[in-house]
Amino acid sequence: MDDIYLNGKFIKKSDAQISIMDRGFLFGDGVYELIPVYNKKIFLLHKHLDRLKNSLNLIGMHFIGGLEQAIEKLISSSTKNNFYIYLHITRGQQPHRNHIYPKSIQPTVLIMCEEYLSYDQNQIAGGFTACVQEDFRWLKSNIKSISLLGNVLLKNLANSDGFYETLLIRDNKLTEGSASNVFTVKNNEIFTPKLTNELLPGVTRDLLIELLNDNNMKVTEADISQEDLLNADEVWCSSSTNAVVPIVKVDNTEIGSGKTGDISLFAHKITKDFVRSY
Ligand code: PDD
Repeated sequence: MDDIYLNGKFIKKSDAQISIMDRGFLFGDGVYELIPVYNKKIFLLHKHLDRLKNSLNLIGMHFIGGLEQAIEKLISSSTKNNFYIYLHITRGQQPHRNHIYPKSIQPTVLIMCEEYLSYDQNQIAGGFTACVQEDFRWLKSNIKSISLLGNVLLKNLANSDGFYETLLIRDNKLTEGSASNVFTVKNNEIFTPKLTNELLPGVTRDLLIELLNDNNMKVTEADISQEDLLNADEVWCSSSTNAVVPIVKVDNTEIGSGKTGDISLFAHKITKDFVRSY
């Protein structure tokens, strides 16, 4: 996991250097993707590259060629089979700190492999806990921006109180988790917040909607209030790092029976099966 790709070169992580004048470092001016690799095979690469293209477009940057080849080379030279690819593109560096960026500026491209923690079946069956916070992030959370201070503060609020995730509410509507999308189940109906500028269009969210539909389980994209969330029979979070993470308690409120529900377990199973057959 030592080799990384930086601006066209494959080098050791410990040899990598980025200028202090890089706009990613100074302004958090850039976007990223996190793409799982299962059994040395990159998962849903094109979905991630499409979202990357969209994020770049929304911040006025162009798509960059050669990413797929660089990713493949890193995967084939890795000694590990399961990890994730972290792809990070900043607007680049300029000689002086200035909010205004020049018209021609060379982006900084970093690609590296990182290991992730995955949960076993017992942990999934036992379920996880979450807290609720006001979503105080900016109004462009649909961009997968490297400026993650809001998400970082919100995730650490959960972590310091022993919760897995912070679920975010804006204008009494659930948006997403600090690093995940959220699904709820009520009376066997599955809901997830509809896509707006206030949440990330998760690749796993999309996949789950598709897989559940294929199994005749419709997912309704709707507004979900804090009350709906707390009164749900089941809640789960989805992300590329941990496809389905059941939430059985939100702050002091037990969700449904307080145990991982059948639909959450089913959603977890069909994503695992899909990964195996991919
Ligand atoms: N984050 N919403 C937010 C705010 C996220 O950070 C993530 C994932 C998701 C889920 O998106 P996807 O299914 O495409 O991974 C939703 C990654 C895992 C991260 O930043 O580590």
